Amino acid sequence: MPQRPLVVVTRKLPEPVEARMRKLFDARLNEKDVPLTRQKLVAAVGMADVLVPTVTDRIDASLLAAAGPRLKLIANFGVGIDHIDLAAAETRGIVVTNTPGVLTEDTADMTMALILAAARRLAEGERLVRGGKWKTWAPTFMLGARLGGKRLGIIGMGRIGQAVAQRARGFGMEIHYHNRRRIAAGLERTLEATYWRSLDRMLPRIDILSVNCPYTPDTHHLLSARRLKLLPAHAIVVNTARGGIIDEAALAQMLAKGEVAAAGLDVFEREPAVDQRLKRLDNVVLTPHMGSGTREGRIDMGEKVIANIKSFTDGRRPPDRVAGT
Ligand code: DGY
Repeated sequence: MPQRPLVVVTRKLPEPVEARMRKLFDARLNEKDVPLTRQKLVAAVGMADVLVPTVTDRIDASLLAAAGPRLKLIANFGVGIDHIDLAAAETRGIVVTNTPGVLTEDTADMTMALILAAARRLAEGERLVRGGKWKTWAPTFMLGARLGGKRLGIIGMGRIGQAVAQRARGFGMEIHYHNRRRIAAGLERTLEATYWRSLDRMLPRIDILSVNCPYTPDTHHLLSARRLKLLPAHAIVVNTARGGIIDEAALAQMLAKGEVAAAGLDVFEREPAVDQRLKRLDNVVLTPHMGSGTREGRIDMGEKVIANIKSFTDGRRPPDRVAGT
């Protein structure tokens, strides 16, 4: 790998990150921020030493089959790597890195924002005021659910899940979680968290559900129609992870029928398309995949990408390697 590698970045990054990349690398940046077509992605992997994609690029086996001999590193801008075929990269000897840690707090903040917004009917109230439909204060008007004392069920107790749990404790919520592995006993004690090995057994017992696990073939439709039906009808579902973890059509139907009380969704199965039924519902808060969207977070993500590329070109093991040797 040359000391000044040819780095193709598929989307516009924050200015300070792009400035550093221009200095350090032979950086081909996407000034206009137009998502790359398949043809352009093929051309990119054909010429680059390093590709810097985002969640909007599908880096599948057929694309990697078109990779040129120079492509040795895919330094993803983002922590989720479900859009990259890791096995295909591994087979072709391409190392893949991501950006963990730096977007944990921002994503947890967004999760709390959606929990609050869904429980306290924030978006609905805002629409009402803007629409000139607010007539008067009344004791029974726009009632939501109190967070204090409610049971929060977290699916996926990694960095983000834990950061959500810490915040939710501050709101007086009781923490329950389902994870492949139980977290350390000390942490469980600090969070006063209850572990549920069986998701099916946790779901009927919680009031608010937060999805914070990675999207993998194992978690595709983890919240299937059958599992969503295990939730109590007053439950609120919040997803800041990946849309495909929930059967979106089933959730939309249940929200419409009042079988699930409300939802806060930042991610969707076919982004940027959003199920029309969800858009029509008042009990759903919809945001455009902006969980990690703070200026500080996006700069930190860019710095992580740069650190991964730098260590790779210096012949060291990149700190955030998820595939390849
Ligand atoms: C992430 O980092 O995975 C965010 O969801 C953006 O892709």
